[in-house]
Amino acid sequence: MAQFSITVNGEQHQVEVAPDTPLLWVLRDHLNLPGTKYGCGIGQCGACTVHVDGLATRSCMLPVVSVGNSKITTIEGLSANGDHPVQEAWLEHDVAQCGYCQTGQIMTAASLLAKNPNPSDTDIEVGMNGNICRCGTYKRIKAAIKTAANG
Ligand code: FES
Ligand code: FES
Repeated sequence: MAQFSITVNGEQHQVEVAPDTPLLWVLRDHLNLPGTKYGCGIGQCGACTVHVDGLATRSCMLPVVSVGNSKITTIEGLSANGDHPVQEAWLEHDVAQCGYCQTGQIMTAASLLAKNPNPSDTDIEVGMNGNICRCGTYKRIKAAIKTAANG
Protein backbone atom coordinates (compact mmCIF):
# COMPACT_ATOMS: atom_id res chain seq x y z
CA MET A 1 0.00 0.00 0.00
CA ALA A 2 1.05 3.57 -0.65
CA GLN A 3 -0.50 7.01 -0.39
CA PHE A 4 -1.47 8.82 -3.60
CA SER A 5 -2.82 12.28 -4.18
CA ILE A 6 -4.92 12.51 -7.34
CA THR A 7 -7.07 15.24 -8.84
CA VAL A 8 -10.49 14.07 -9.95
CA ASN A 9 -13.23 16.37 -11.20
CA GLY A 10 -11.37 19.38 -9.88
CA GLU A 11 -10.88 18.05 -6.36
CA GLN A 12 -7.78 16.60 -4.81
CA HIS A 13 -8.12 13.23 -3.09
CA GLN A 14 -5.78 11.13 -1.00
CA VAL A 15 -6.05 7.38 -1.41
CA GLU A 16 -4.10 4.53 0.13
CA VAL A 17 -3.92 1.64 -2.31
CA ALA A 18 -1.44 -0.69 -3.96
CA PRO A 19 0.51 1.23 -6.64
CA ASP A 20 -0.68 -1.06 -9.42
CA THR A 21 -4.37 -0.55 -8.58
CA PRO A 22 -6.14 0.49 -11.79
CA LEU A 23 -7.57 4.00 -11.68
CA LEU A 24 -10.98 2.46 -12.43
CA TRP A 25 -11.11 0.79 -9.02
CA VAL A 26 -9.78 3.85 -7.22
CA LEU A 27 -12.61 5.87 -8.73
CA ARG A 28 -15.33 3.32 -8.05
CA ASP A 29 -14.27 1.79 -4.74
CA HIS A 30 -12.38 4.59 -3.00
CA LEU A 31 -13.86 7.82 -4.36
CA ASN A 32 -17.45 6.62 -4.69
CA LEU A 33 -17.67 7.54 -8.38
CA PRO A 34 -19.52 4.54 -9.85
CA GLY A 35 -20.39 6.20 -13.17
CA THR A 36 -17.23 4.77 -14.74
CA LYS A 37 -17.97 1.14 -15.63
CA TYR A 38 -16.03 -2.10 -15.63
CA GLY A 39 -16.50 -4.06 -18.82
CA CYS A 40 -13.50 -6.17 -19.82
CA GLY A 41 -10.62 -4.99 -17.65
CA ILE A 42 -8.17 -5.43 -20.54
CA GLY A 43 -8.57 -2.23 -22.52
CA GLN A 44 -10.83 -3.72 -25.16
CA CYS A 45 -14.35 -2.34 -24.57
CA GLY A 46 -14.14 1.33 -23.56
CA ALA A 47 -16.70 1.12 -20.73
CA CYS A 48 -14.14 2.50 -18.28
CA THR A 49 -13.17 5.57 -20.32
CA VAL A 50 -12.33 8.75 -18.41
CA HIS A 51 -10.42 11.86 -19.43
CA VAL A 52 -6.80 12.22 -18.39
CA ASP A 53 -5.80 15.81 -19.10
CA GLY A 54 -8.68 15.87 -21.57
CA LEU A 55 -7.74 12.71 -23.46
CA ALA A 56 -10.03 9.68 -23.49
CA THR A 57 -8.21 7.01 -21.50
CA ARG A 58 -9.04 3.45 -20.40
CA SER A 59 -9.04 3.68 -16.62
CA CYS A 60 -8.84 -0.13 -16.27
CA MET A 61 -5.37 0.02 -17.84
CA LEU A 62 -3.97 2.99 -15.92
CA PRO A 63 -2.28 2.11 -12.62
CA VAL A 64 -2.82 4.80 -10.02
CA VAL A 65 0.95 5.17 -9.65
CA SER A 66 1.05 6.53 -13.23
CA VAL A 67 -1.59 9.22 -12.73
CA GLY A 68 0.78 11.74 -11.14
CA ASN A 69 -0.41 15.33 -11.49
CA SER A 70 -2.74 14.62 -14.38
CA LYS A 71 -6.27 15.93 -14.10
CA ILE A 72 -8.87 13.17 -14.20
CA THR A 73 -12.43 13.82 -15.31
CA THR A 74 -15.16 11.23 -14.93
CA ILE A 75 -18.72 11.29 -16.20
CA GLU A 76 -19.72 12.80 -12.85
CA GLY A 77 -17.47 15.80 -13.56
CA LEU A 78 -18.02 16.23 -17.30
CA SER A 79 -20.55 19.01 -16.66
CA ALA A 80 -22.13 20.61 -13.63
CA ASN A 81 -25.70 19.66 -14.44
CA GLY A 82 -25.48 16.94 -17.06
CA ASP A 83 -25.65 19.65 -19.70
CA HIS A 84 -22.49 19.04 -21.68
CA PRO A 85 -23.43 19.29 -25.40
CA VAL A 86 -22.72 15.58 -25.81
CA GLN A 87 -24.98 14.69 -22.89
CA GLU A 88 -27.75 16.90 -24.27
CA ALA A 89 -27.40 15.36 -27.73
CA TRP A 90 -27.50 11.88 -26.18
CA LEU A 91 -30.85 12.70 -24.59
CA GLU A 92 -32.17 14.27 -27.77
CA HIS A 93 -31.38 11.09 -29.73
CA ASP A 94 -32.41 8.76 -26.90
CA VAL A 95 -29.10 6.96 -27.46
CA ALA A 96 -28.90 4.68 -24.43
CA GLN A 97 -30.45 1.24 -24.41
CA CYS A 98 -29.25 -0.79 -21.38
CA GLY A 99 -26.87 2.11 -20.69
CA TYR A 100 -23.88 0.10 -19.53
CA CYS A 101 -21.45 1.29 -22.19
CA GLN A 102 -22.75 4.82 -22.39
CA THR A 103 -20.43 6.50 -19.90
CA GLY A 104 -17.50 5.37 -21.98
CA GLN A 105 -19.20 6.38 -25.22
CA ILE A 106 -19.97 9.88 -23.92
CA MET A 107 -16.49 10.43 -22.50
CA THR A 108 -14.88 9.28 -25.75
CA ALA A 109 -17.22 11.45 -27.82
CA ALA A 110 -16.56 14.50 -25.64
CA SER A 111 -12.81 14.03 -26.02
CA LEU A 112 -13.17 13.52 -29.77
CA LEU A 113 -15.16 16.74 -30.18
CA ALA A 114 -12.74 18.71 -28.01
CA LYS A 115 -9.96 17.77 -30.43
CA ASN A 116 -12.05 17.88 -33.59
CA PRO A 117 -15.19 20.04 -33.27
CA ASN A 118 -16.41 19.20 -36.75
CA PRO A 119 -15.73 15.49 -37.33
CA SER A 120 -16.57 13.71 -40.58
CA ASP A 121 -18.37 10.35 -40.55
CA THR A 122 -14.99 8.66 -40.85
CA ASP A 123 -13.53 10.73 -38.02
CA ILE A 124 -16.43 9.61 -35.80
CA GLU A 125 -16.09 5.97 -36.83
CA VAL A 126 -12.35 5.98 -36.19
CA GLY A 127 -12.61 7.99 -32.97
CA MET A 128 -15.35 5.81 -31.48
CA ASN A 129 -13.97 2.55 -32.83
CA GLY A 130 -12.77 1.07 -29.53
CA ASN A 131 -16.03 1.63 -27.65
CA ILE A 132 -18.20 -1.46 -27.82
CA CYS A 133 -21.97 -1.38 -27.38
CA ARG A 134 -23.59 -4.77 -26.95
CA CYS A 135 -26.99 -3.17 -27.60
CA GLY A 136 -25.88 -1.85 -30.97
CA THR A 137 -26.63 1.83 -30.43
CA TYR A 138 -23.93 2.87 -32.88
CA LYS A 139 -26.25 4.66 -35.32
CA ARG A 140 -27.72 6.84 -32.60
CA ILE A 141 -24.26 7.51 -31.16
CA LYS A 142 -23.10 8.80 -34.52
CA ALA A 143 -26.20 10.96 -34.95
CA ALA A 144 -25.81 12.39 -31.45
CA ILE A 145 -22.16 13.26 -32.05
CA LYS A 146 -23.16 15.15 -35.19
CA THR A 147 -25.83 17.02 -33.26
CA ALA A 148 -23.37 17.89 -30.51
CA ALA A 149 -20.87 19.08 -33.12
CA ASN A 150 -23.45 21.27 -34.81
CA GLY A 151 -24.69 22.63 -31.50
S1 FES B 1 -13.14 -2.12 -18.81
FE1 FES B 1 -11.56 -0.86 -19.54
S2 FES B 1 -11.58 -1.13 -21.69
FE2 FES B 1 -13.05 -2.55 -20.95
S1 FES C 1 -26.43 0.60 -24.45
FE1 FES C 1 -26.26 -1.45 -23.78
S2 FES C 1 -24.18 -1.95 -24.09
FE2 FES C 1 -24.43 -0.02 -25.03
